[in-house]
Amino acid sequence: MKLLTSIGDLDTPISSDVEITSTDDEEVTMTMQTDLADTADTADTAETAAATIPGPTDGLWHLRAAGVSLVLEVARSALPQILHWGADLGDLPADELDALRAAAVPPVASGTPDAPVPLTILPEQSAGWLGTPGVTGHRDGADFSTRFLVEQVRLVHDVERDGAPVAHRMTVDARDAEADLTLRIEIEMLPGGLVRARGRLRNTGAAVFTVGSLDLALPLPREADEILDFTGRHLRERSPQRHDFVAGTHLRESRRARSHDGTLLMTAGRRGFGYRSGEVWGVHVAWSGNTRTFAEQGMPTGERLLGAGELLLAGEVRLSTGQAYESPWVYASYGDGLDELSHRFHTYLRSRPQHPGSPRKALVNVWEAVYFDHDLDRLTALADAAAAAGVERYVLDDGWFRGRRDDTAGLGDWTVDDDVWPEGLHPLADHVTGLGMELGLWFEPEMVNPDSDLARAHPEWILQTGNRMPPEARHQQVLDLAHTGAWEHVYGQIDAILAEYPIGFVKWDHNRDLVDAGHTATGGAGVHAQTHAAYRLLDALRAAHPHVEFESCAGGGGRADLGILERTERIWTSDCIDALERQTIEAGTGLLVPPEMLGSHIGSPTSHTTGRRHELSFRGATAFFGHLGIEWDLTAASEAERSEVARWVAAYRQHRDLLHHGRSVRTDDPDPALRVHGVVREGAGEAIFAVVQLTTGVWAPPGRVRLPGLDPDTTYDVRPLAPGDEVEPGHGEALPPWWSDGVRLSGRTLAGAGVQLPHQFPERSVLLHVTAV
Ligand code: DGJ
Repeated sequence: MKLLTSIGDLDTPISSDVEITSTDDEEVTMTMQTDLADTADTADTAETAAATIPGPTDGLWHLRAAGVSLVLEVARSALPQILHWGADLGDLPADELDALRAAAVPPVASGTPDAPVPLTILPEQSAGWLGTPGVTGHRDGADFSTRFLVEQVRLVHDVERDGAPVAHRMTVDARDAEADLTLRIEIEMLPGGLVRARGRLRNTGAAVFTVGSLDLALPLPREADEILDFTGRHLRERSPQRHDFVAGTHLRESRRARSHDGTLLMTAGRRGFGYRSGEVWGVHVAWSGNTRTFAEQGMPTGERLLGAGELLLAGEVRLSTGQAYESPWVYASYGDGLDELSHRFHTYLRSRPQHPGSPRKALVNVWEAVYFDHDLDRLTALADAAAAAGVERYVLDDGWFRGRRDDTAGLGDWTVDDDVWPEGLHPLADHVTGLGMELGLWFEPEMVNPDSDLARAHPEWILQTGNRMPPEARHQQVLDLAHTGAWEHVYGQIDAILAEYPIGFVKWDHNRDLVDAGHTATGGAGVHAQTHAAYRLLDALRAAHPHVEFESCAGGGGRADLGILERTERIWTSDCIDALERQTIEAGTGLLVPPEMLGSHIGSPTSHTTGRRHELSFRGATAFFGHLGIEWDLTAASEAERSEVARWVAAYRQHRDLLHHGRSVRTDDPDPALRVHGVVREGAGEAIFAVVQLTTGVWAPPGRVRLPGLDPDTTYDVRPLAPGDEVEPGHGEALPPWWSDGVRLSGRTLAGAGVQLPHQFPERSVLLHVTAV
């Protein structure tokens, strides 16, 4: 055993109880109270690692990765307190860490408690915290306020969780002996500098404990004085909203499980922070049920924080003796600019073993081409046209199953409709695979139409409250998968379809909100259990059909969190395929989700959801930056259009290795009419940028536009990239002189001075190919 440090300065004299153990150089355990026998939260044992140990030093722990520092103080009397989360502080010697702590202690202000109130990762009122408490709940009215004492801290380095690397993992076990609760907090620093944390609350008392909330909180510095989060609606996800960080709580809740208006990220930063600069901090809840995310300044002393967790409905989680509630992971990212914050999410997602590693197949989805008109000749003609365009996957959308002639019936009966498909889906499957494409199929497993055999047989399997049904939405209700029979019914039918047909892709849809959603067996709220049951269903189907990829769709981007993305390969980003709208929707969603997971389609010339008409060049250049698909009746397109689509598909297939593995960059162009974004290959040897003219520009020509993110000392060749190279010169306008032969400039000059660009009409874009010379 090697003692790595001492913890003699903890604020409670506990030296006789304290034991520091380390089995080797990679694990440090501080046991602050030795009796843990009655808790089931035993430590994981299968961890191996070797690394230098950055802590503890007098209860201080410094976790570092990829330019981020997290300095934590863990004392017996208080849950972990984050003293710094932000820019890397370097290799801090013990005395400097101590000094950091000393310098962080505020003087007592008038009208406040006699000792400074700690902002812990689960703030507690028992310590004087006046903002949102980390844990709420009660035992028939009692035990409403907690005071946890830390019993053990454990830190391991360079380990894995679920196959993905973890740079540092801290586990803190605490107990509130009065309230008869134990708490385990896990805090991880991932190799890309992303931090995540979650809590597990266990009832050790005899009576039931009802959990109200368990929210994790991360502190912000006073410099974070502006909030950016996202709102929206169906067909308009991720609309950004910026506002001052003022006293009080800016709370975003999702009370309907899926949510188009819910924010994927709550960020706060230095006023004016942009993509490329300005310190910014953000949190995300990896959960597909109800969530709460907030930015709060709840104390007169001015502490600011970002908080997040699951939103639990009244009485939804009631813990009997020994039972525990585990919160979802809350992810926290820091960056100098949103690009860096975003890159940490992308790095994490790409580090997971289940992250899609194969080239993302160009696909065709038949929805907006045929809707419910499932006619074999029409669908095979579309397959022919798609294959001719270079498409690799064909997705049959809604309408193939029993009784599903429109959106009023059929959900829940997942067998092929004999009337429409007398020979099953085989003729289509044979045709599609014969053309060399993979077959994909649509399901909406968590839903049921009242007009279905399933609902007629089992009305009690519908999420409902009392003797009333929730208001119908799209003529459907939510199937309560927490009923074993319902879960097994859906599993069995989907499993059978996946076994019968050569299906390589499932589009998993979810088209209504969970409201008034009770579980009939108990009469209690059912969203929490439903979310777990839906995860279990996906996990089981994935395990049974490991070659099948899954897409998360909820009327478009209503379910795009990291909980669902742990078990799906992409999201359907929005039901709106209008390329102009998609520029904003994908910019917002893309902060969290990397391009290879963002379903992005070339739609019809006239958008079905906005009525706007766009050139194919603009639609193509927009879809090019995600996981490209086509959602347009190609059989009705002209020859010229079809060959242009084929050029876009070919370009996508040629460049997807760069687009799907590189680093996303965006600029803060002074002209709000111009959006410049791109992807830089790892190593910065190559990049592709899009220069998008959203509206008419403030200036014409736009002036010199900067291309950031390249290696400053490398010289690059910059030239337009086909087929995104066509510019229609406006009235009496010409192209910049360098346009036809390209230009050679260093990465430093491209980022610092930029290049002249042609003037474009609004709702157009050009692509630039940047290659190291
Ligand atoms: C909503 C989805 O977002 C659409 O793409 C399509 O799959 C329809 N549902 C089908 O009902």
